[in-house]
Amino acid sequence: MKILVTGGAGFIGGNFVHYMLKEHKDYDILCVDKLTYAGNMETLAPVMDNPHFKFVRADIADRDAIFKIFEEEKPDIVVNFAAESHVDRSIEDPGIFLKTNILGTQVMMDACRQYGIERYHQVSTDEVYGDLPLDRPDLFFTEETPIHTSSPYSASKASADLLVQAYHRTFGLPVTISRCSNNYGPYHFPEKLIPLMIANALNDKPLPVYGKGENVRDWLYVEDHCRAIDLIIHKGSVGEVYNIGGHNEMANIDIVKIICKELGKPESLITYVTDRKGHDMRYAIDPTKIHNELGWLPETMFKDGIKKTIQWYLDNRQWWENIINGEYREYYKKMYEGR
Ligand code: NAD
Ligand code: DAU
Repeated sequence: MKILVTGGAGFIGGNFVHYMLKEHKDYDILCVDKLTYAGNMETLAPVMDNPHFKFVRADIADRDAIFKIFEEEKPDIVVNFAAESHVDRSIEDPGIFLKTNILGTQVMMDACRQYGIERYHQVSTDEVYGDLPLDRPDLFFTEETPIHTSSPYSASKASADLLVQAYHRTFGLPVTISRCSNNYGPYHFPEKLIPLMIANALNDKPLPVYGKGENVRDWLYVEDHCRAIDLIIHKGSVGEVYNIGGHNEMANIDIVKIICKELGKPESLITYVTDRKGHDMRYAIDPTKIHNELGWLPETMFKDGIKKTIQWYLDNRQWWENIINGEYREYYKKMYEGR
């Protein structure tokens, strides 16, 4: 079995590569990644010598390059993680989100049609459902919730999902889609809430909370997401969408306070800054379908997962310091200075 994983040098894709090589020792994993600012070969360093692993640098929107890879490698399954993934960047510059997230998905599926594939799996997000109000804790996103997007990022991911469903219905491509809530864990790029707060707290820098910090996200430990995708590609039904989430809703401000407490840092580091434009209020996944059909349940409780994550950032300081001391400095200045 050969699995082509796109975006495997990023956060979730990287964790998925590690997970699959550990869980399926006889599988070959081929990682295709453009190595944008978010791709990091240090994330893949532990597996580079594994004979079952291969890395190819390529852009999923580059038709010639992707078709050549399929011609040479003939993968059985494709899992498409590759994407521009940060909402704030999509508000600054939407264009690349449309190119990678929509056209890149089209190129990957065209290659699957041309060369044949057992399964094409699209890694999507709960953000395609828009947001829920804070005063209706009884509401959750199910697979039937209408698509209703807020940011250029979520609009690009929703567009890709529609295209995936169209390729299934029109061309019979054997697809599945998963829509997961917010992930956290090792190798998370420090532009995102949890790793940004850990890195800043460790450096005694201000902790920039958008708006009042009331917005709610439904956090899932990244390994639980990887296990869900592994189940879907092997046992999920073709043409189906699966929501993934662990009923772990938390307000941003509470997450930041937990990080301060775990690291022994003062809450006086918390700084309230101008809110994100179009900021989604609350995400909350109903994971009943994946539980009933595939027996999936999250295994890592947030109280344990956040400790493991913080410990990982303490043990792997070089990994994130190399990032925050590089071109990320310019990004940080632009996004946060004087905000
Ligand atoms: P990330 O930004 O950490 O990693 C993205 C990876 O894709 C990087 O390695 C990057 O180099 C690569 N990439 C970007 N453009 C590419 C292109 N044109 N061709 C090839 N490679 C390219 O992202 P992440 O947080 O790991 O998210 C992975 C996927 O999961 C995305 O599709 C995202 O929409 C989805 N998702 C993320 C979360 C989350 O909480 N992070 C939750 C649900 C779904
Ligand atoms: O829900 C799944 C989505 O989760 C994925 O599809 C996205 O790829 C992923 O980036 C994530 O999107 P969010 O926008 O929810 O994640 P982010 O870490 O950027 O922000 C989480 C919350 O924290 C959000 O309400 C904004 C807030 N925030 C974020 C940053 C970076 C802050 O208050 N301060 C910050 O500095």
